[in-house]
Amino acid sequence: MEAKLVPLISQAEISATVSRLSQELDRDYRHRSPVLVGILKGSFIFLADLARSMQTPISNIEFIRLSSYGSSTVSPGKASIIMGLSEEVVKGHDIILVEDIVDTGITTATALDFLNSYQPASLKLCALLDKPARRKVPVTIDYLGFTVPDHFVVGYGIDFDCKYRQLPAIYYILTE
Ligand code: IMP
Repeated sequence: MEAKLVPLISQAEISATVSRLSQELDRDYRHRSPVLVGILKGSFIFLADLARSMQTPISNIEFIRLSSYGSSTVSPGKASIIMGLSEEVVKGHDIILVEDIVDTGITTATALDFLNSYQPASLKLCALLDKPARRKVPVTIDYLGFTVPDHFVVGYGIDFDCKYRQLPAIYYILTE
């Protein structure tokens, strides 16, 4: 079955939004040197663009990985950390968790709990996309790019069945 990709967010809109988010972060992290922690794999392109757009000196960039959807468009009930990081990376540091999309909130909430357990000086969440329609766990998004409707989206680092991460814009998938 061929998936049909429907344009949702253009390259130009993404670029303008990444600039806006980096300005918000630069304003809030003036005189600080935060650590960016990206959630693999979906955040890798967003994090790379965000980091290059920020003027604030970033003291470290790290990644964590949680269990994923596999090849299904239905979220499983639980996330688990499958690649963490060491405590000294987090303890006493200003951490910005960078996520591609907050859907049910389970992945992000698990990641926030994990990072909080290592006692950061501060912990904030920067997410490119928010899909509030499917939220199961409350999550506060401190820096948000776009709110999207309840569609399965791909592109700009976000995949379906490992594909479409390379697309420079964001689409939703029609599978019928
Ligand atoms: P949550 O745990 O349901 O909030 O899902 C978070 C993770 O699921 C994201 O980091 C994505 O990797 C993946 N995800 C959620 N919605 C989508 C989507 O529409 N397209 C592709 N991946 C998604």
